[in-house]
Amino acid sequence: MTDIARPARRTFMCASAALGSAALLTACGDGHSEADTPEALPIPEPTGEGQALMKTKDLPVGSRALAPAKDPSGKDVGILLFRKDEKTVLAYSNVCTHQGCAVTPKSSKEDFYCACHGSRFAPADGTVTDGPAIAALPRYAAAIQGDDIIAYVTAAE
Ligand code: FES
Repeated sequence: MTDIARPARRTFMCASAALGSAALLTACGDGHSEADTPEALPIPEPTGEGQALMKTKDLPVGSRALAPAKDPSGKDVGILLFRKDEKTVLAYSNVCTHQGCAVTPKSSKEDFYCACHGSRFAPADGTVTDGPAIAALPRYAAAIQGDDIIAYVTAAE
């Protein structure tokens, strides 16, 4: 599987319309669309060595953060975190499934946001809430261990 998003059917239709009629372009709006594939990806089983990304006290329940980490090859990666409840932290890749820009937790809508083209992702499961992205964010296993938030960062597929 690849992180590169397929063009949404609507995008294709809008591009086709652009060739035939300027009037149809207005129906395509600004390129934003509802997600066509809203399914959340599964959380993988923890494998390899967990990385302590931040202190639990620095991620209160309901909050989001971006933490630096290393993938198995030693490459720097960004991990989006969401503290779902006292005992649960969810972790996602911060690579946008649209065209690969960095997704950030800095958002006025309490979600994950990609400033490149405006895609938004749900902190609760990584699904797309606003396009142009159509695929959910890849997930990582994460846990709270003592005072630390741990993530098991696997290689990108
Ligand atoms: S790269 Fe296009 S919305 Fe993220």
